[in-house]
Amino acid sequence: MKAGAWFFALIAIAYLAWIGGVKADGSGDPAVGSVANGRYLDKEGQPTYNVQPDGTVDWFTYSGFRRYHAHCHVCHGPDGEGSSYAPALAESLKTLTYREFLFIVADGRKNVTTSQTNVMPALGHNRDVVCYLDDIFVYLRARSNGAIERGRPPKHEDKSEMTAKAERSCRG
Ligand code: HEC
Repeated sequence: MKAGAWFFALIAIAYLAWIGGVKADGSGDPAVGSVANGRYLDKEGQPTYNVQPDGTVDWFTYSGFRRYHAHCHVCHGPDGEGSSYAPALAESLKTLTYREFLFIVADGRKNVTTSQTNVMPALGHNRDVVCYLDDIFVYLRARSNGAIERGRPPKHEDKSEMTAKAERSCRG
Protein backbone atom coordinates (compact mmCIF):
# COMPACT_ATOMS: atom_id res chain seq x y z
CA MET A 1 0.00 0.00 0.00
CA LYS A 2 1.25 3.48 -0.84
CA ALA A 3 1.89 6.05 1.91
CA GLY A 4 -1.18 8.03 0.81
CA ALA A 5 -3.44 4.99 1.13
CA TRP A 6 -2.11 4.24 4.63
CA PHE A 7 -2.84 7.76 5.65
CA PHE A 8 -6.38 7.49 4.32
CA ALA A 9 -6.92 4.21 6.19
CA LEU A 10 -5.71 5.78 9.44
CA ILE A 11 -8.09 8.70 9.05
CA ALA A 12 -10.97 6.30 8.39
CA ILE A 13 -10.16 4.27 11.52
CA ALA A 14 -9.86 7.42 13.64
CA TYR A 15 -13.20 8.61 12.33
CA LEU A 16 -14.93 5.31 13.13
CA ALA A 17 -13.44 5.35 16.64
CA TRP A 18 -14.64 8.90 17.05
CA ILE A 19 -18.26 8.30 15.99
CA GLY A 20 -18.23 5.15 18.14
CA GLY A 21 -16.84 7.13 21.08
CA VAL A 22 -19.51 9.80 20.92
CA LYS A 23 -22.17 7.23 21.63
CA ALA A 24 -20.46 5.63 24.63
CA ASP A 25 -20.84 6.73 28.25
CA GLY A 26 -19.46 5.43 31.55
CA SER A 27 -21.59 2.31 31.15
CA GLY A 28 -20.60 1.75 27.51
CA ASP A 29 -22.78 1.93 24.43
CA PRO A 30 -26.31 3.12 25.35
CA ALA A 31 -27.87 1.64 22.17
CA VAL A 32 -30.86 -0.62 22.85
CA GLY A 33 -29.97 -4.32 22.75
CA SER A 34 -33.28 -5.73 23.97
CA VAL A 35 -36.67 -4.67 25.26
CA ALA A 36 -39.21 -6.47 27.43
CA ASN A 37 -42.34 -4.98 28.98
CA GLY A 38 -41.31 -1.40 28.27
CA ARG A 39 -37.91 -1.88 29.88
CA TYR A 40 -34.97 -1.22 27.53
CA LEU A 41 -31.55 -2.78 28.07
CA ASP A 42 -28.25 -2.16 26.29
CA LYS A 43 -26.18 -5.03 24.89
CA GLU A 44 -24.54 -5.52 28.30
CA GLY A 45 -27.94 -5.92 29.96
CA GLN A 46 -27.81 -2.54 31.72
CA PRO A 47 -30.83 -0.22 31.76
CA THR A 48 -30.92 2.27 28.91
CA TYR A 49 -33.30 4.82 27.40
CA ASN A 50 -35.31 4.79 24.20
CA VAL A 51 -36.38 7.97 22.43
CA GLN A 52 -38.64 7.63 19.39
CA PRO A 53 -38.28 9.98 16.39
CA ASP A 54 -41.33 12.00 17.55
CA GLY A 55 -39.74 12.56 20.97
CA THR A 56 -41.74 9.92 22.88
CA VAL A 57 -39.54 8.53 25.66
CA ASP A 58 -39.77 5.17 27.42
CA TRP A 59 -41.56 5.02 30.76
CA PHE A 60 -38.33 4.80 32.80
CA THR A 61 -36.86 7.97 31.32
CA TYR A 62 -40.06 9.84 32.14
CA SER A 63 -40.39 8.37 35.62
CA GLY A 64 -36.71 9.08 36.25
CA PHE A 65 -37.24 12.70 35.29
CA ARG A 66 -39.93 12.98 37.97
CA ARG A 67 -37.99 11.09 40.64
CA TYR A 68 -34.82 13.03 39.96
CA HIS A 69 -36.64 16.31 40.41
CA ALA A 70 -38.28 15.07 43.62
CA HIS A 71 -35.13 13.76 45.32
CA CYS A 72 -31.91 14.90 43.67
CA HIS A 73 -32.69 18.30 42.11
CA VAL A 74 -32.44 20.13 45.45
CA CYS A 75 -28.67 19.50 45.54
CA HIS A 76 -27.74 18.49 41.99
CA GLY A 77 -29.65 21.23 40.18
CA PRO A 78 -32.40 20.94 37.54
CA ASP A 79 -32.00 18.53 34.60
CA GLY A 80 -28.82 16.95 36.01
CA GLU A 81 -26.95 20.17 35.28
CA GLY A 82 -25.30 20.54 38.70
CA SER A 83 -25.16 23.32 41.28
CA SER A 84 -22.55 25.07 43.34
CA TYR A 85 -23.09 22.35 45.97
CA ALA A 86 -23.18 19.07 44.05
CA PRO A 87 -21.85 17.81 40.69
CA ALA A 88 -23.73 17.73 37.36
CA LEU A 89 -24.88 14.12 37.16
CA ALA A 90 -25.42 14.38 33.40
CA GLU A 91 -21.64 14.89 33.28
CA SER A 92 -20.86 12.30 35.96
CA LEU A 93 -22.55 9.54 33.97
CA LYS A 94 -20.10 10.03 31.14
CA THR A 95 -17.55 8.24 33.33
CA LEU A 96 -19.45 6.54 36.18
CA THR A 97 -20.62 2.99 35.53
CA TYR A 98 -24.13 1.74 36.35
CA ARG A 99 -22.76 -0.14 39.38
CA GLU A 100 -20.81 2.83 40.68
CA PHE A 101 -23.95 4.94 40.35
CA LEU A 102 -26.01 2.43 42.37
CA PHE A 103 -23.39 2.18 45.12
CA ILE A 104 -22.92 5.93 45.50
CA VAL A 105 -26.66 6.59 45.77
CA ALA A 106 -27.20 3.73 48.22
CA ASP A 107 -24.16 4.36 50.43
CA GLY A 108 -23.56 8.08 49.96
CA ARG A 109 -20.18 9.77 49.75
CA LYS A 110 -18.32 12.42 51.63
CA ASN A 111 -15.62 14.45 49.99
CA VAL A 112 -13.75 16.64 52.40
CA THR A 113 -11.85 19.43 50.69
CA THR A 114 -9.93 22.22 52.37
CA SER A 115 -12.73 24.73 51.83
CA GLN A 116 -15.92 22.79 52.36
CA THR A 117 -17.47 19.44 53.20
CA ASN A 118 -19.90 18.26 50.56
CA VAL A 119 -21.97 15.27 51.54
CA MET A 120 -23.87 12.93 49.28
CA PRO A 121 -26.42 11.38 51.68
CA ALA A 122 -26.86 7.58 51.77
CA LEU A 123 -30.32 7.02 50.30
CA GLY A 124 -30.32 3.20 50.42
CA HIS A 125 -33.06 3.13 53.07
CA ASN A 126 -35.39 5.48 51.17
CA ARG A 127 -37.91 3.50 49.11
CA ASP A 128 -38.96 6.59 47.19
CA VAL A 129 -35.43 6.53 45.79
CA VAL A 130 -34.35 2.87 45.89
CA CYS A 131 -37.44 1.59 44.06
CA TYR A 132 -36.65 4.04 41.23
CA LEU A 133 -32.86 3.81 40.92
CA ASP A 134 -33.05 2.41 37.39
CA ASP A 135 -35.51 5.13 36.41
CA ILE A 136 -33.19 7.89 37.66
CA PHE A 137 -30.18 6.21 36.07
CA VAL A 138 -31.91 5.87 32.68
CA TYR A 139 -33.08 9.48 32.77
CA LEU A 140 -29.58 10.74 33.57
CA ARG A 141 -28.07 8.44 30.96
CA ALA A 142 -30.35 10.03 28.35
CA ARG A 143 -29.37 13.51 29.54
CA SER A 144 -25.70 12.54 29.57
CA ASN A 145 -25.86 11.48 25.91
CA GLY A 146 -27.91 14.48 24.82
CA ALA A 147 -30.76 12.15 23.82
CA ILE A 148 -33.35 14.39 25.52
CA GLU A 149 -33.55 18.12 26.07
CA ARG A 150 -33.74 19.86 29.42
CA GLY A 151 -37.19 19.91 31.03
CA ARG A 152 -40.07 17.45 31.19
CA PRO A 153 -40.13 14.97 28.28
CA PRO A 154 -43.24 15.96 26.27
CA LYS A 155 -44.48 12.43 25.50
CA HIS A 156 -43.89 9.06 27.09
CA GLU A 157 -44.82 5.39 26.80
CA ASP A 158 -47.27 3.95 29.32
CA LYS A 159 -46.13 2.14 32.44
CA SER A 160 -46.28 -1.61 31.71
CA GLU A 161 -48.22 -3.97 34.00
CA MET A 162 -44.91 -5.69 34.83
CA THR A 163 -43.33 -2.40 35.93
CA ALA A 164 -46.39 -1.53 38.04
CA LYS A 165 -46.15 -4.94 39.72
CA ALA A 166 -42.41 -4.59 40.43
CA GLU A 167 -43.05 -1.14 41.87
CA ARG A 168 -45.78 -2.43 44.21
CA SER A 169 -43.60 -5.23 45.51
CA CYS A 170 -40.59 -2.93 46.02
CA ARG A 171 -42.62 -0.38 47.92
CA GLY A 172 -44.13 -3.13 50.10
C1 HEC B 1 -28.29 16.81 50.29
C2 HEC B 1 -27.77 17.02 48.97
C3 HEC B 1 -27.81 15.86 47.97
C4 HEC B 1 -28.91 15.13 47.57
C5 HEC B 1 -30.35 15.25 48.03
C6 HEC B 1 -28.41 14.20 46.57
N1 HEC B 1 -27.07 14.36 46.40
FE1 HEC B 1 -25.85 13.26 45.17
N2 HEC B 1 -24.23 14.28 45.83
C7 HEC B 1 -24.27 15.34 46.68
C8 HEC B 1 -22.91 15.87 46.83
C9 HEC B 1 -22.51 17.05 47.69
C10 HEC B 1 -22.08 15.06 46.03
C11 HEC B 1 -20.55 15.17 45.89
C12 HEC B 1 -19.97 14.33 46.98
C13 HEC B 1 -18.48 14.22 46.88
O1 HEC B 1 -17.85 15.16 46.39
O2 HEC B 1 -17.95 13.18 47.28
C14 HEC B 1 -22.95 14.08 45.40
C15 HEC B 1 -22.48 13.10 44.55
C16 HEC B 1 -23.30 12.24 43.84
C17 HEC B 1 -22.83 11.29 42.87
C18 HEC B 1 -21.39 11.09 42.42
C19 HEC B 1 -21.11 12.08 41.32
C20 HEC B 1 -19.71 12.06 40.79
O3 HEC B 1 -19.44 12.83 39.84
O4 HEC B 1 -18.86 11.31 41.28
C21 HEC B 1 -23.93 10.64 42.38
C22 HEC B 1 -23.97 9.55 41.33
C23 HEC B 1 -25.08 11.20 43.07
N3 HEC B 1 -24.67 12.17 43.95
C24 HEC B 1 -26.38 10.83 42.82
C25 HEC B 1 -27.50 11.37 43.46
C26 HEC B 1 -28.87 10.99 43.15
C27 HEC B 1 -29.29 10.02 42.06
C28 HEC B 1 -29.66 11.69 44.02
C29 HEC B 1 -31.17 11.63 44.15
C30 HEC B 1 -31.75 10.29 44.31
C31 HEC B 1 -28.80 12.50 44.87
N4 HEC B 1 -27.48 12.29 44.48
C32 HEC B 1 -29.23 13.33 45.89
C33 HEC B 1 -25.37 15.85 47.32
C34 HEC B 1 -26.66 15.36 47.22
